[in-house]
Amino acid sequence: MLKNVLITGANVGLGKETAKQLALKEGIEKIYLGCRNKEKAKVAQQDLEESTGKSIFEIILIDVSDLNSVKVAVDSLNGPIEALVMNAGGPRGVNFNDKTKDGVTQIFAVNLLGHVVLAEELIKSKKLNKVALYAGSEAARGIRIMGVKRPNLKSSSVDEFASIANGEFFGNITDPMIPYGSIKYMGAMWMASIARKHPDIRFVTMSPGATSGTDAMNTLSPLKRLILKTCFLMLSLIGNSHALSVGAKRFVDCLWDESYKTGVFYASKSGTSGPVVDQGTIFDDLNNKTFQDNAYEAIHRFIN
Ligand SMILES: NC(=O)c1ccc[n+]([C@@H]2O[C@H](COP(=O)([O-])OP(=O)(O)OC[C@H]3O[C@@H](n4cnc5c(N)ncnc54)[C@H](OP(=O)(O)O)[C@@H]3O)[C@@H](O)[C@H]2O)c1
Repeated sequence: MLKNVLITGANVGLGKETAKQLALKEGIEKIYLGCRNKEKAKVAQQDLEESTGKSIFEIILIDVSDLNSVKVAVDSLNGPIEALVMNAGGPRGVNFNDKTKDGVTQIFAVNLLGHVVLAEELIKSKKLNKVALYAGSEAARGIRIMGVKRPNLKSSSVDEFASIANGEFFGNITDPMIPYGSIKYMGAMWMASIARKHPDIRFVTMSPGATSGTDAMNTLSPLKRLILKTCFLMLSLIGNSHALSVGAKRFVDCLWDESYKTGVFYASKSGTSGPVVDQGTIFDDLNNKTFQDNAYEAIHRFIN
């Protein structure tokens, strides 16, 4: 049972649906909606209050691409939280490859760097005490039908992981799906590494699976949107995608059920929907502690 939880990117899509499902769980007293836009957050808060009949949602302003905003958000929390859902992100936006002032690409900052700082600042200030969930993706192991290749790392060295963070690994690209899978892979490796450093907290990477009804595609250029929508249509035709409620339930189950083990990356057994399994039973590199620690170290090169 969990009393309170902070969810990033909680104003739409999987984050908002997760907030809704959690609100209906026994024992939940407070859900912090971690959002970067106050107006959008207020609309989501009102909507969630109406749909659940509960007034337990509190807005925390947080832009995970801005490390200062992340630190301010942690300071603004009055007491500790029991659960953190690192959900903000996705292969979003037309400026995904621009660099932030920390030297990483926007897509890396949103999907990983900001969440690393968020989790680590919470731990440092003793404000996270039970479970941290990172939104993973089957893209981390490649999705053939979408033309997403499995990350092609040559050495999994610290330098190689750092080149994923600053975008040099990919060169001059226009498709956010190219770095997306490698970043989610690196996120799962960081989670496995930090899980060993903090055995008192459960760190689980969970992919929601191919989930329709989210906002991600609306942030892309018209051409990319068309391509991704076509891919999703193909996935749904072969039964390889599911509704928002199903994707979010994977997150909720993982938070609630302690048999989801720390340090493990769970995703669909095959394809992008259906039962989830420990991906380390399929891809042995995920279990390599040196690779995991190299990912951890590479990320910390960009944190002062
Ligand atoms: N949908 C899928 O099929 C799928 C599959 C595998 C994994 N995932 C993962 O699941 C997570 C949620 O995806 P989704 O499909 O629900 O996406 P979504 O509907 O596009 O929602 C993304 C959320 O992230 C927020 N966000 C973006 N940049 C942010 C920033 N800098 N700071 C704070 N919040 C920020 C967005 O806020 P704004 O509204 O302000 O932009 C929005 O609330 C992502 O991590 C994604 O990679 C999704």
